[in-house]
Amino acid sequence: MEELRKKLVKGQVDGQVLMIFGVNGDLSKRKLLPSIFQLYIDDLLPKKFIVIGCGSDKKDENAFREDVEENMKLFADDLMEKHPEKFDTFKKIIYYKSVRNREKEDFDQLKNYTYSLTQKLNIPHNFIYYFSIPPFMYEIVANHLVVVGLNTEDDGWKRVIVEKPFGYSLDSAIELDEKLHKGFREHQIYRIDHYLGKETVQNIMVTRFANGFFEPLWNRRYIDRVEITAAEKIGVEDRGGYFESSGTMRDMIQNHLLQVLAVIAMDPPAVFDSDSIRNETVKVLQALRPIQPNEVSKYVVRGQYTEGKRRGEVLRGYREEKDVDPNSMTETFVALKLFVDNWRWSDVPFYIRSGKNLPVRVTEIVIHLKPAPLQLFKEKLSNQITNMIILRIHPDAGIAIDFEMKIPGAGYNVQSVNMDFHYSDLEQSKIPDAYERLLLDCMVGDSTLYARADAVRASWKFVDPILNAWRENPKIPLYMYPSNTWGPAEADGLFENKDLQWKDQCDKFFCEI
Ligand code: BG6
Repeated sequence: MEELRKKLVKGQVDGQVLMIFGVNGDLSKRKLLPSIFQLYIDDLLPKKFIVIGCGSDKKDENAFREDVEENMKLFADDLMEKHPEKFDTFKKIIYYKSVRNREKEDFDQLKNYTYSLTQKLNIPHNFIYYFSIPPFMYEIVANHLVVVGLNTEDDGWKRVIVEKPFGYSLDSAIELDEKLHKGFREHQIYRIDHYLGKETVQNIMVTRFANGFFEPLWNRRYIDRVEITAAEKIGVEDRGGYFESSGTMRDMIQNHLLQVLAVIAMDPPAVFDSDSIRNETVKVLQALRPIQPNEVSKYVVRGQYTEGKRRGEVLRGYREEKDVDPNSMTETFVALKLFVDNWRWSDVPFYIRSGKNLPVRVTEIVIHLKPAPLQLFKEKLSNQITNMIILRIHPDAGIAIDFEMKIPGAGYNVQSVNMDFHYSDLEQSKIPDAYERLLLDCMVGDSTLYARADAVRASWKFVDPILNAWRENPKIPLYMYPSNTWGPAEADGLFENKDLQWKDQCDKFFCEI
């Protein structure tokens, strides 16, 4: 960030325009605009920079700015409270153009509007188009941008940020790529996966590759299994319509969690640049052992939340949620066991689980190490040996190492203790939001933390047969679990060794069961 700040001060970062399609939507209100405002406060935006919000609602600039202010008070109240004067100047760099995505003439007008603004403000024609719109609109908007000539790079660079899900299956992802490539070249396409923008996910690479002591252990010889949990306390809220067509597999596993897995399992790149890093992560995804249709029930458990209680409050079941089919077969929980078939990870199981309406919000990676070759203190243990490296993404981001230690006093009795590092202990402890980081990267043309086409395809290739089996084979159960529990008990059955189970997340975090 410091290096970037210097460049920005020297005016070395290109002047540019960020156009957000779907600017009146949830993502833009909750994440994008607050992130841009934070970058503005931190003085991290290019000197010549404006945002043009594009949405179907008809309103003028002033009304838009007022809406943004209202939303900012809702979703970034801390920023608004601390920097009210900054917002007054920030709002002058945000503009609005009413655009109906299906109408070509609106894109002609958008072009004229943008050109007159850039001329007036002396901003070069470097444009980022952020597609914060439903996936079926990507193609339509991309096509209109091409038709009106807003894709050409003769007068400045053009970049497109495409939100997830990128396609619904391998075929549709390939098709979407082909359609985008009609008007944009690969270097112009930024497929966003906000998990890669999380500081703590990037820190996995630093932890592994900047230290001499983790990497020698990071392989099948010393690691028994890896667990990745992304538990959410909330249900689908008002996103029932979207979730019905997505489900947890498409919403969390195909993108966020497989990308996290790729970062955990990748080999060290020869140099730390975008291509080298992405070359290594894609190799992991390509090495995922396919799950055959007849093995889906053995390796994958799907669940759906039903009514439950938290602190006496009744939590609705998924089928009672707004815009959800009362007979819906959509999964809100997935647990799976998979293998990465390469030299480093051969036969090491990776267990992944994610679900909504679970007792706590936590995203954590647990690396379980194999026990020491000879158990000298077997008889003296107060509990099972739990050598673990825990990489906590949130809450309370940090790293913990659990190991065994002698209980002080007579004899050699052993107990588990841990060394716990918390990001909050750092002097510079503010963790930037993932969207801040990713927007900034796109502004400077760094695509390292964006998913490449081959990686997206490799993860669809792994996920597709599971989704197909669920669709085609009604015998594969969808297990029901009461809201505010840890998902169906069948998820425990993924561990072949019956002594093993998912790490208890309620031991560290407050679960209101
Ligand atoms: C989004 C999913 O991509 O990630 C949501 O669409 C999910 O359903 C969210 O809640 C989780 O992100 P985070 O950063 O809160 O873990």
